[in-house]
Amino acid sequence: MKTEKKTALITGANKGIGKAIAIKLLKKGIRVIGTSTTQYGVKIINKYLKKNGFGVVLDLKDTNSITEKIKEIYKHNYSIDILVNNAGIKSDKLLVHMNNTDWEDIIKINLISIFYTSKAVIRSMIKKKEGRIITINSIIGYTGNKGQTNYSAAKSGLIGFHKSLALEVASKGITVNMVAPGLIQTDFIKDLNAFQYKKHLSNIPMKRLGSVEEIADAVMFLSSNQASYITGQTLHVNGGMYM
Ligand SMILES: NC(=O)c1ccc[n+]([C@@H]2O[C@H](COP(=O)([O-])OP(=O)(O)OC[C@H]3O[C@@H](n4cnc5c(N)ncnc54)[C@H](OP(=O)(O)O)[C@@H]3O)[C@@H](O)[C@H]2O)c1
Repeated sequence: MKTEKKTALITGANKGIGKAIAIKLLKKGIRVIGTSTTQYGVKIINKYLKKNGFGVVLDLKDTNSITEKIKEIYKHNYSIDILVNNAGIKSDKLLVHMNNTDWEDIIKINLISIFYTSKAVIRSMIKKKEGRIITINSIIGYTGNKGQTNYSAAKSGLIGFHKSLALEVASKGITVNMVAPGLIQTDFIKDLNAFQYKKHLSNIPMKRLGSVEEIADAVMFLSSNQASYITGQTLHVNGGMYM
């Protein structure tokens, strides 16, 4: 798929990995529709997009609103060629201390919402006979982690979803892949204390955290024509932490 004059929908584009992906795609001439849960986030998105797209308020926890919001985008004559399911949250606790909300919110935002976003774009991609769905998974979806039964269940669930969807649309010119980051410097890991930070660092063979640009590069590659024969895959970007 040629990426010129295409439109990408990126969830969670106001900061962190999502913002870096948006800026990377923008530089390649792709129009971006970015989401945030707040008006303030939308303002940030609109500022860096400089009219090469726009920001939309979207709360993935409100699954009913996802279809409606994406329908609105199509009504305004935007057709989504690249869907980047980036937004995600964590709420870490050992299972003995985890409450229903910790469990349900993480599953809803990190896994259930992907059904709604993907379903909302897939028909038009099938019609056009091209499209890209790229989801940000996590190393934890593949390894599991203490204190993250909710997060790892959601991220592991994405693996089956993406492999199955990749099979369903492989003959329609649509590829469905994931990027699985290791530890990346964003607000997502700001609650790590010095001890945890040091411990994590010692487990990374490259002895450094990844940057948001390194994840964005992987997403850009999977969006590009160079990745046209890759589907149902996970691109691991983790400094050697998991192979
Ligand atoms: N950073 C890492 O080390 C790391 C490692 C592995 C995987 N990941 C994955 O990478 C993705 C991005 O993480 P990040 O590091 O960039 O985190 P981040 O800086 O905390 O950003 C999270 C993004 O998700 C959005 N978001 C949160 N709750 C949402 C909701 N209910 N509905 C819609 N959007 C929501 C946020 O939007 P608002 O700010 O507007 O709420 C924000 O844009 C996530 O899927 C995460 O699981 C991150």
